[in-house]
Amino acid sequence: MMIDTTFRTPIRNAHKNKIKTSQGISGSVVLPPLLSIRNLHTEFRTGRGVVRAVGGISYTVEAGETVAIVGESGSGKSVSAMSILRLIPDPPGRIANGEIMFDGRDLLILPEEAMRKLRGGEIGMIFQEPMTSLNPVLTIGRQITETLEQHRGATPAAAHQRARDLLGMVGIADPDRRLKQYPHQLSGGMRQRIMIAIALTCDPKLIIADEPTTALDVTIQAQILELMKDLTQRLNIALVIITHNLGVVARYANRVNVMYAGRIVESGSAAAIYHDPRHPYTIALLRSVPRLDRPRQDRLDPVEGQPPDLTRLDAGCAFRPRCRFAVAACAESSPALTAIGESGHAAACFRAADIARAA
Ligand SMILES: Nc1ncnc2c1ncn2[C@@H]1O[C@H](COP(=O)(O)OP(=O)(O)OP(=O)(O)O)[C@@H](O)[C@H]1O
Ligand code: SF4
Ligand SMILES: [Mg+2]
Repeated sequence: MMIDTTFRTPIRNAHKNKIKTSQGISGSVVLPPLLSIRNLHTEFRTGRGVVRAVGGISYTVEAGETVAIVGESGSGKSVSAMSILRLIPDPPGRIANGEIMFDGRDLLILPEEAMRKLRGGEIGMIFQEPMTSLNPVLTIGRQITETLEQHRGATPAAAHQRARDLLGMVGIADPDRRLKQYPHQLSGGMRQRIMIAIALTCDPKLIIADEPTTALDVTIQAQILELMKDLTQRLNIALVIITHNLGVVARYANRVNVMYAGRIVESGSAAAIYHDPRHPYTIALLRSVPRLDRPRQDRLDPVEGQPPDLTRLDAGCAFRPRCRFAVAACAESSPALTAIGESGHAAACFRAADIARAA
């Protein structure tokens, strides 16, 4: 199977809406993206020094778009997502710089009360291990209706009906029985479906899913990703999906941001990242995962070397010690994310132009 056939059509013009001007003439305006992150820096003060977990990332998510954040352990994926939700524990953490605009609001200056409403309301959240996110002593039904009553002021009867409908949407049969059960009575896949139902409860505009399928076996992973893709497309919900597995996301994402040592080192359509990767780290990552677009792979090569110590980043490119393309200039400064190739494709590498098709 060629992977190209499975890509979703990028929603290129999702942000361009036709409006009527005051003169009654129909015109086209460009609306800002649903989510826009600019120069986000998040750090932790520890005994070893300041951990620069997120070191100046910028990206946007359009309404209805699926954006994947990919990178190995410790690259700052979760910290960047937690920063959007303002869930960074302070101390030791803090958002040191940046701007996060969501649907016209600057999240970094929003009062805490408004932020609390946003979490689980306009922004739904799905985490890796539902057992730690679901409350073990409350029934599934109660966990869904509680959200509705808190966020929407729904009556108990209306909340119950909505809970039944949501279970149907996420493919859970016999909802009346399931709503009375506790999380431990359900399988891992079913618990993840419940997390999706909870994330959908308040008609979110955006869902942030942090490694939503990592704990599941491969078949169930595919089913859950398929379900998320189907629901977010149907309901026009934007999705930020975080994963360390570049092999999985391409079928589900419009855009992929590859993170390394707290920065985005490559960004582009899933097709560009797969077929024309321009950062040596992306190339190495692609070699480390099974590829759906290659019929057979002789062997997988893990990315050699260790991620850098985030308390001791120097002025040069953070990937330098592991990079087979490194040249003297790479030690002097850190390359900025720069446009290359097709529209929207960018890489942070001094040699991006001559690293073509090296995968
Ligand atoms: N509370 C904290 N105190 C100190 N350092 C932290 C804290 N939380 C995260 N970090 C550090 O921030 C960096 C980024 O962590 P993050 O959890 O975002 O990685 P990740 O990309 O999500 O990795 P994984 O794939 O393992 O989930 C890591 O070096 C981590 O040790
Ligand atoms: S800038 Fe240099 S060290 Fe960094 S990824 Fe590119 S070639 Fe490698
Ligand atoms: Mg994480």
